[in-house]
Amino acid sequence: MARTPELVFSLSVLMSMIFSSTAQSCKSYALSSNKTFRACYDLPYLNSYLHWNYDSSSNKLQIAYRHTGITSSRWVAWAINPTSTGMAGSQALVAYQQTDGTMRAYTSPISSYQTSLQEGKLSFDVSDLSATLANNEIIIFATIGLSNTSTTVNHVWQDSAVSGNATQVHATSGANVQSMGTLNLLSGESSSTGGNDRIRKRNIHGVLNAVSWGILMPIGALIARYLKAFKSADPAWFYLHVSCQFIAYIVGVAGWGTGLKLGSESASIQYDAHRTIGIILFCLGTLQVFALLLRPKPDHKYRFYWNIYHHLVGYSVIILSIINIFKGFSILNPDKKWKNAYIGVIAAVAFNAVWLEGYTWYLAVKRKRSEIAGKMPHGMNGSNGVNGFGARQQQGV
Ligand SMILES: *[C@@H]1O[C@H](CO)[C@@H](O)[C@H](O)[C@H]1NC(C)=O
Ligand SMILES: *[C@@H]1O[C@H](CO)[C@@H](O)[C@H](O)[C@H]1NC(C)=O
Ligand SMILES: *[C@@H]1O[C@H](CO)[C@@H](O)[C@H](O)[C@H]1NC(C)=O
Repeated sequence: MARTPELVFSLSVLMSMIFSSTAQSCKSYALSSNKTFRACYDLPYLNSYLHWNYDSSSNKLQIAYRHTGITSSRWVAWAINPTSTGMAGSQALVAYQQTDGTMRAYTSPISSYQTSLQEGKLSFDVSDLSATLANNEIIIFATIGLSNTSTTVNHVWQDSAVSGNATQVHATSGANVQSMGTLNLLSGESSSTGGNDRIRKRNIHGVLNAVSWGILMPIGALIARYLKAFKSADPAWFYLHVSCQFIAYIVGVAGWGTGLKLGSESASIQYDAHRTIGIILFCLGTLQVFALLLRPKPDHKYRFYWNIYHHLVGYSVIILSIINIFKGFSILNPDKKWKNAYIGVIAAVAFNAVWLEGYTWYLAVKRKRSEIAGKMPHGMNGSNGVNGFGARQQQGV
């Protein structure tokens, strides 16, 4: 495997991207108006940032809610929920650009699911409400008189489309249902929200699974398929293959466990397809591990069928893993670069597979030729084919 260093390199690039800081920090941002805010927080979803001043003596909260990457045909909203978490009961500040180009900023109490955000009075006082749209960024400014003396508030933020002058319902999956959290008005630091802890768990889940099911397992399959072609790599390829898949399996089971835990913690949102594929993957992966123990000897008559089974399950696991990782990307919705990095690694693996496939065919043909030239056809059954399912009992360990 001349290309192994390349794979290792891609992997380490991926890992270093994962562990380097990803957030565009609100701290480095200066609002273009002459308002200044002492505290800010990078909200974990929907490209949003909250800047605020809190005066504990008057219980006044002055905020700027900033939502980037937005077009003029979308609305944004930021809300406090004084009684509960989530959307129902939240007291929202909504803004969008009207068809005549002016910005509309208004308040909307959300009692329940509704098709558009109706204007209405909130349960607390709101003054100085305004909004701007510039550089694909809507900012809502407001001053809120909190009636509650608690210094942590539950908040929710959202975006969706505007049609004419009417706000449309928001998406009910992905980041749009995760955009909520608690805010500590006093700390002012981007710490201590439940949301961040959950994001960290989800990121761990994503990294473990992408690396194990999504990268190590395909590489392990490459090792088995192509290293075998080199006579000198026998039986090293077998131990490499088994070690690679075994490590992938252990890490993968850990990743699978974190997924189950995340699923049980989010009773309200179910990602059925992602979950089902995850469970199937765990079963198939476990089956592969146990099948190794039941592997017939290379010259056993059932070995042929075992090989077919092993390849079928193995390739199914790889395909399902990659599908599920992309499903995971659309749920977790991380920075684009993660998805791109993963696509890059998978493309590198695929590129190596194509390249090695060609090379092993070339080797096989060459070997055949030299055999034919060297001696009389010794037996037409000489299935020296380096490729092809199950046709290499003579090389099996
Ligand atoms: C800066 O503040 C002054 C006074 O409050 C206001 O009149 C002016 O419009 C502000 N400038 C900007 C760019 O918002
Ligand atoms: C104040 O906050 C507490 C805890 O968040 C909540 O239980 C209570 O209902 C709130 N009171 C008002 C008047 O909003
Ligand atoms: C939207 O609202 C603005 C301001 O009230 C108005 O000028 C415009 O005609 C409205 N557009 C539609 C399509 O109703």
